[in-house]
Amino acid sequence: MAYKKVLSAILVSALFPALSSAQEAASHPTYAKEVSRIIQENCQICHQPGQIGPMSFTSYEEVRPWAPLIQLRVASREMPPYQYDTEIGIQHLKNDWRMSQEDIDTVVAWVNAGSPFGNQEDLPPPRQYPDMGDWRLADELGQPDHTIKSTAWDVPADGQDLWWKPVVDSGITESRCIKAVETRPSAAAIGSTHHANSHFKVLDENDEWVNGDRLSEFAIGKLGEKVPEGACRRIPANSMVEWEIHYFPDGNAVPNDQVTIGIWYYDEEDEFVEEESYPQDLSAYFLSGGGGDYMIPPNGKLMTQGFRSFDHPVRIDSWQPHMHLRGVAMSMEVFYPETGRKEVISQTSNWTSAWNHSHTYAEGYQPLIPAGATIILTGWYDNTANNPMNPDPDQWVGAGQRTTDEMGHAWIAISHLDEEDYEKLVAEREERDNSSVAGAGGSD
Ligand code: HEC
Repeated sequence: MAYKKVLSAILVSALFPALSSAQEAASHPTYAKEVSRIIQENCQICHQPGQIGPMSFTSYEEVRPWAPLIQLRVASREMPPYQYDTEIGIQHLKNDWRMSQEDIDTVVAWVNAGSPFGNQEDLPPPRQYPDMGDWRLADELGQPDHTIKSTAWDVPADGQDLWWKPVVDSGITESRCIKAVETRPSAAAIGSTHHANSHFKVLDENDEWVNGDRLSEFAIGKLGEKVPEGACRRIPANSMVEWEIHYFPDGNAVPNDQVTIGIWYYDEEDEFVEEESYPQDLSAYFLSGGGGDYMIPPNGKLMTQGFRSFDHPVRIDSWQPHMHLRGVAMSMEVFYPETGRKEVISQTSNWTSAWNHSHTYAEGYQPLIPAGATIILTGWYDNTANNPMNPDPDQWVGAGQRTTDEMGHAWIAISHLDEEDYEKLVAEREERDNSSVAGAGGSD
């Protein structure tokens, strides 16, 4: 499939010989002036040597042959990979990878004009990137305060899904508030490390090790997670960490592979401005997208729903859909029993298991859920040949853990509020929306 695409890319570009500079009127964008900047900004982090993108886009020579395919993937919002609807739900997100429509239109116009280079002097200087082996959050936060490694394991070159679940000492000696956490696979195993989840194990009152809070999660394409400003996510001292690493061999054997978690702490003296008003130890809830028992028929489709409500108000800080190969869309809604109204908070209509993002709502735009309202998670599955991720439309597919089984859930980070804090936050937003341009308020 990839092979065929390569051929067509070359074929199409051969049909559009570069225009002479006289023809390059200012009416269309050029690589040097506009497109190089857009590619630096949105693509190079992955499309450069040693990174996960299959081809490098660091120069005109590298980009040019791919122009038609770039146009296609950018116009359809498949690249950069970020499946979050632009028309539905809350649009204020942190670390939003989506391109502006204006930039998309520029790339489309550039390719339609024959992908011209333009003038050498318009070219921006090359962009510097952090070392492959470095933390993604290092630019902003420096090196982590604490790291935890999984026990070394030999990843074979070929074979089936593999699970590695070592339990290690966390090395954490005091219970502190964390600012950020990032899970990093080794550079050698970046292609075979599908997921790496971790949770704490803590001693209960009977001196038995029991499962504690989730610590971190890595899935292909995922960067680190920051705790929302002013919230204390406390981690347990003298704990153990249990890993659940899912390797899927990609042709490269990696002996003694280790996955690493980096933790950044708040300073001891940092005041939690809001600790008094809403002390919120964050917990990530596993919100099921439907009962564990379902079967998707061969060449069929399915929808599942999961529901969750709280007896106190909550603020949702982030949302990360998780499904497998047949999963194609997910939404999160809230149902208000008093008014009978339903509202979509977030939706990924074009979801693909190739990418996993934790969508973090921007400050002041996190959904506020009143006590008793119901959060509804809906997952859609497509087991037909129309789903490009589907390895075999003739199979029955049930719920389970293997890549070829299906699942539908979302990780949501929740801050627990009391009534007073909830009212306060609602009032703050009303004030903000009323003082902004008339008619602008509201998320959807
Ligand atoms: C987060 C990493 C990442 C970013 C950012 C990213 N890509 Fe990709 N890209 C990939 C990976 C991995 C693949 C191969 C798997 C796939 O096609 O999903 C890919 C594949 C592609 C392909 C080939 C698709 C095919 O059908 O064979 C094109 C073209 C492409 N990317 C263009 C872009 C452009 C243009 C941008 C920026 C506007 C971009 N990508 C941003 C990681 C990325």
